[in-house]
Amino acid sequence: MSAQHEHVLIVDFGSQVTQLIARRLRESGVYCEVHPYNRLGAGFLNRFAPKAVILSGGPSSVHWENSPRAPEAIFDLGVPILGICYGEQVICEQLGGAVQSSEEREFGRAEIEIIKDSPLFAGLSPRETVWMSHGDRVESLPHGFDVIARSENAPFAAIADEARKIYAVQFHPEVVHTPCGAQILRNFTHGIAGLSGDWTMAAFRAEEIAKIRAQVGKGKVICGLSGGVDSSVVAVLLHEAIGDQLTCVFVDTGLMRANEADQVVSLFRDHYNIPLVHVDAGDEFLGKLAGVSDPEKKRKIIGSLFIDIFEREAKAVGGADFLAQGTLYPDVIESVSFDGGPSVTIKSHHNVGGLPARMKMKLVEPLRELFKDEVRALGRELGLNEQFVARHPFPGPGLAIRIPGEITPERVAILQKADAIYLDEIKKAGLYDDIWQAFAVLLPVRTVGVMGDERTYDYVLALRAVTSTDGMTADYYPFNHEVLGRMSTRIINEVRGINRVVYDVTSKPPGTIEWE
Ligand code: XMP
Repeated sequence: MSAQHEHVLIVDFGSQVTQLIARRLRESGVYCEVHPYNRLGAGFLNRFAPKAVILSGGPSSVHWENSPRAPEAIFDLGVPILGICYGEQVICEQLGGAVQSSEEREFGRAEIEIIKDSPLFAGLSPRETVWMSHGDRVESLPHGFDVIARSENAPFAAIADEARKIYAVQFHPEVVHTPCGAQILRNFTHGIAGLSGDWTMAAFRAEEIAKIRAQVGKGKVICGLSGGVDSSVVAVLLHEAIGDQLTCVFVDTGLMRANEADQVVSLFRDHYNIPLVHVDAGDEFLGKLAGVSDPEKKRKIIGSLFIDIFEREAKAVGGADFLAQGTLYPDVIESVSFDGGPSVTIKSHHNVGGLPARMKMKLVEPLRELFKDEVRALGRELGLNEQFVARHPFPGPGLAIRIPGEITPERVAILQKADAIYLDEIKKAGLYDDIWQAFAVLLPVRTVGVMGDERTYDYVLALRAVTSTDGMTADYYPFNHEVLGRMSTRIINEVRGINRVVYDVTSKPPGTIEWE
């Protein structure tokens, strides 16, 4: 928690889009944290001392048995409150209004009409488009509240108790489908709560450096470098904080992209003067992965081997007490389910869930409070080479999760070649910066083809490219067919072992970005 800044508390009732509230607030310079509704004891609230509170949406109905409520103490804080969707229903229910249960859901775009002046709607037009997604709806208002906007299906689309500065909306201002949503949230934080928007990257940098120094003292730190932007930013920040107490370890898993290992090592050696150990562990990784096809087993094996290597290197530098890694805020939020119950593990990302309990080193995770685009902004603030800052994300398990089925050195080599051509064509077409992440996947499927007069029986390669802002949701990238055709021709002509190329047009959800 960042002590120097004005904080907003976002109470999570389990909406799929709660994180977007945090993003919108951070974009306007407001520091905020998301916490599950049932982890907000009096001690926490006193310590956190929010300047404003937002109650998120959620999948529950206030009529369900044991459905979530806001702690009563929230209403006694005397700070402005904004309820969103389920958050509106909770406010009504807890402050003496009534919520009508409904089997019908209202989902999608709607138009609201602003019927009463309110600072929440400052600068908006009398009619605005918003995104609705709710079942139940408010039936009668608690004492002190007025309706400030209505829509055809939601007579209480927005309500306000201006005296107590408690506001609630039935729609979702945090999603991009509500074009005026960012303005509404800004009106709430800056206008109503009077926040100044003091959350800047320069301030974050200075505070994090102080925190790292306080945590680490005179201890030694090992930082796993992967070549991705997160670990590069962690390394540069740590170096600024603790200088030569830091040793970076670049583990070449043998599952990197073509030339990736050389690029990372030379960038750090040439530009940063940060002590860097290059561990060539390709044989070790491929040896442990031999014969393994299950995606989760692959991830666990890789995570565990990374730790073995870090511990080995920690000893080699005379005993490091800390391991630094680039865990981001979405990882932190995703690993806590909103009701404290078990959350479904989709994938064991090795920088969050995959660390074995036996590891003795303590973790240093200076990016825990940041979203990916904020990490990039911090990288720029630290003067990190733009080539690195703008790099597509690359997962710790590397090409292992892009080779469904068994991983063999032959398959890795085929994928590296094809992937390099794919990225080369993307760069030549000037599309690299429009795409969040692009990579090739080598399928364990062979098909019949004909090249010259010869029959071929070779692998299928799938190409994947997505747009996204934080990797939580994604859309496939709409390449034009000419570009796709060029990629396919080059890959089939230049890479022995592939005779068919397909393009993945799945969004996330329902797909994920990586194939495993
Ligand atoms: P998914 O496949 O879960 O990926 O939609 C979301 C983003 O996370 C990256 N990813 C990882 N990054 N360690 C990482 O550091 C991992 O184990 C890992 N698995 C997936 C993925 O490349 C995408 O950017």
